[in-house]
Amino acid sequence: MDCTTEPQNITIDVHLSGETPANVQAELREGLTSTPRTLPTKYLYDDRGSELFEAICKLPEYYQTRTERHLLNQCADQIICLTEAEELVELGSGAATKTRVLLDAMARVEQLRFYVPFDVSEGIVRRVAQELVKEYEGLHVHGVVGDFLAHLEHIPDGGRRLVVILGGTIGNLDSQAALNFVSSIHTEMASGDFFLLGVQLETSIKRIEAAYNDSAGITAAFNKNILHVMQEMLGASLDPDAFEHVALYNTTAHRIEMRLRSKEAQHVQIPGLDLSFHLEKGEDILTEISTKYDHPRAETLLKESGFDMIKWYTDSEELIGLALARKP
Ligand code: AVJ
Repeated sequence: MDCTTEPQNITIDVHLSGETPANVQAELREGLTSTPRTLPTKYLYDDRGSELFEAICKLPEYYQTRTERHLLNQCADQIICLTEAEELVELGSGAATKTRVLLDAMARVEQLRFYVPFDVSEGIVRRVAQELVKEYEGLHVHGVVGDFLAHLEHIPDGGRRLVVILGGTIGNLDSQAALNFVSSIHTEMASGDFFLLGVQLETSIKRIEAAYNDSAGITAAFNKNILHVMQEMLGASLDPDAFEHVALYNTTAHRIEMRLRSKEAQHVQIPGLDLSFHLEKGEDILTEISTKYDHPRAETLLKESGFDMIKWYTDSEELIGLALARKP
């Protein structure tokens, strides 16, 4: 671990991912040779992918981000009052835009002491830390750079904690992985700590599919970016023009499945993996899932992970849910 203490109330811990080239190769090889062929979602979110995702959040079709921000605006004061939180830990903090709504609510009642942004991108954790100590007087930011699926034990101890995951990030996990993940968050938390989980709710298929098939083609570019990543990382012969972006709702699994569909039969060579395979015309590579919840499914996930449900918040159209829970 590399630990830098900077002036102005900032500490950043960097936990290198621990991913060896051999692990990375094995994971990619396994995904690409399974049925359907799969690429790990995390490779969608390199610098260019993260920029494209920020653009997605502003699209007219992508209702999720603005709905969650609006909902948070309405319930932040109550959440802070119920939790009496003085430390906010955010897993997958990104640009921390929506976080400011919670930080503002903490500042209003003079309870804001610590913010712990936890993200895989070191650049964004440092940027957010610099910005926030300027914006909130007396705030200490203790950033953690790491993979929150692997490095949860590095969350620093503090006062009364509120741990949050916003943005529907949990949706990237299938139900078993979500249960494992929320259970390990529970393990790392102290008794009495609160947990706020943001989930995207199941709504009309038409509306959900439109959010992942925007007319400006940004989501298609985001999806195809993973092919550029594979070209650069492994020298893969994966031409973005040879694939079509597909995002369909799987009603049984309650999730959007984003795929890249081969337009023609093609032979793929991946020198970096020492792998080659044939793709049929119309064959898919699965790149991302986005699971949608309802109130009972969110509650079951939290209870099975060991939490007590405290409160459920939703918007008037029931597009986004915020579940407030506590470790007993
Ligand atoms: C970042 C996982 C919340 O599932 O809505 C949006 C990702 N991908 N459009 C989502 C995403 C394409 C997003 N999450």
